[in-house]
Amino acid sequence: MSHKTKLAIFASGTGSNYDAIMAAINNGLLEAEVAILVCDRPNAAVIEKAKKKQTPIFSFDPKQYSAKADFEREIIQQLCVKGVEWIILAGYMRLIGQTLLNRYEGKIINIHPSLLPSFPGLDAIGQAIEAGVKLTGVTIHYVDAGMDTGQIIAQAPVTISEDMSKADLQSAIQKVEHQLYPTIIKQLINRGKQL
Ligand code: GAR
Repeated sequence: MSHKTKLAIFASGTGSNYDAIMAAINNGLLEAEVAILVCDRPNAAVIEKAKKKQTPIFSFDPKQYSAKADFEREIIQQLCVKGVEWIILAGYMRLIGQTLLNRYEGKIINIHPSLLPSFPGLDAIGQAIEAGVKLTGVTIHYVDAGMDTGQIIAQAPVTISEDMSKADLQSAIQKVEHQLYPTIIKQLINRGKQL
């Protein structure tokens, strides 16, 4: 049996990208295993999704720690036990600190709902509407210490039409995300296997 690359998904919210990655694994598009879900909001909807699919979960409340390095050290322990090779941020609304970056440099990727470098940070979809742009989209990038500043891996456009509400735009963007993220994860994993 060929080696299944072990992923950790980090999420804070709904978990639709978690679901899309799980679906890609289950239908054979992606040869990988989600070895753990890491969640910084113990009441997030993604936790219920992960329980249903029997993904191991590490959830924590950052307020219980005095520093980011403290909970990141605990995360690393969990990831090491599971043999995690790649960290996939999927709506993890927190900057990754130096502790995790040092351990997983070049192996952490993020998905962001805009064409970076436009509209980094919170509410990228609202920012695009506010700016009145006609084109936005999705970016997948490596994670560095900055806010959505790491090297870009892939982008896909989404057109904003006149009559679109914010909810319409969000669902158009998420539709693209759910296709693009598993595809790019697959490419990155395969590249790793060829080395
Ligand atoms: C996604 O749209 C993702 O691009 C965004 O959060 C959403 C999570 O949705 N991430 C960011 O804004 C990161 N800066 P999900 O929980 O349904 O996957």
